[in-house]
Amino acid sequence: MKTQAQALPTFFSLWQYQTFLRYFPCPILVSFSHWVCLLISSMAEKRTSDYATPVGGRTVPDFGKMYHVKGELSLPRTEIKEPFEAWYDLEGNRSRIDYRNGKVHTYLIGNDLDYGAIYKITPVTTETEIQATKFFQLNGTKENPIRPQAALPDLQGFEFEKMENYEGVLCEVWKKVTQAGHKKNTYRLWVTRPEGIDSPATPHRFEMVGYNTLLESHNDKYTIDYSDFSPQTESDIFIPPGGMTWGEFPDPVEEHQILANPIQDYVNTSPVSHAHRLFGPYKEKFNRQYESEKEHEERENYFIHSLRYVHSMNRAGLTYSLGINDFSDWSKAELARMTGGLLIPDQEKDVTEY
Ligand SMILES: *[C@@H]1O[C@H](CO)[C@@H](O)[C@H](O)[C@H]1NC(C)=O
Ligand SMILES: *[C@@H]1O[C@H](CO)[C@@H](O)[C@H](O)[C@H]1NC(C)=O
Repeated sequence: MKTQAQALPTFFSLWQYQTFLRYFPCPILVSFSHWVCLLISSMAEKRTSDYATPVGGRTVPDFGKMYHVKGELSLPRTEIKEPFEAWYDLEGNRSRIDYRNGKVHTYLIGNDLDYGAIYKITPVTTETEIQATKFFQLNGTKENPIRPQAALPDLQGFEFEKMENYEGVLCEVWKKVTQAGHKKNTYRLWVTRPEGIDSPATPHRFEMVGYNTLLESHNDKYTIDYSDFSPQTESDIFIPPGGMTWGEFPDPVEEHQILANPIQDYVNTSPVSHAHRLFGPYKEKFNRQYESEKEHEERENYFIHSLRYVHSMNRAGLTYSLGINDFSDWSKAELARMTGGLLIPDQEKDVTEY
């Protein structure tokens, strides 16, 4: 497989996907249940919320142990914008996040059962039902207990950079740079503080810009715009609706995707993201051997964009559950070549209707 240095990201628009199924009717959705274990274990990662320590005369912003916030995740590469609303209660050991204007709910309740539980309410479309609301429960285990998930980044390791106006508000900008292999990520967070006190800070914007030193390109970027931050939540917001029959997280396996709650991966600033860690199992599963380190970096990048796209599209509840498949590390140009140009149209915009 040859690649192009500036190749476009690899993902299917829904239209392309449908066309694809027409020409390749064999099932291309694949099972990868061992990934799901990884996804779950990443959800269990613990957020540290230590008290603020001063950096260069300023205290590192702290959002407190309890908050409500709205946000919009933007993935410019795939033109996806995904709004969410989140509640977090560290001491109560629980969190909740809603997507799609409250149509998809995920509750992470650490104190339920022995090791916590995740409750997910989401519309699911299968071959027989369209957008049917489903209730799923996943019990934590000793190895993978369920813990609350923060919707805001943990600011450990951030340093004050500058003051800057962001949408008319004078903000402190805090910055962190990580490097892992060829991947250099720069995270920035725009915050304000309430008059006269340091905490809790109010988040405005979070941005990640990824630079690959081998490819010499800025090949990754996403932002989260925050609004409506409040250091209080009501406690009944964390209680999943009663009287439901909660099913097991479903097979077929492609539907396990709805499990994934990638805000965790976006707000996490560890140098190798969870999505990157999934590339290892992917290569193994699809038997990948790349010709050079450069190709490896490119493929990994296509894969990351595909993965995020798939997760986002699945949350958007469209009529197909997309899956990671044999083409997930391909560039768009390659996909087009393989099908004799049948899949070329620029239809990406059609699939993000927010
Ligand atoms: C939160 O819940 C998890 C999972 O049940 C548990 O392991 C942990 O000890 C709990 N933490 C607190 C502070 O209660
Ligand atoms: C989760 O725990 C509940 C309560 O113990 C139980 O009824 C349910 O079957 C469990 N679910 C799974 C998938 O094991």
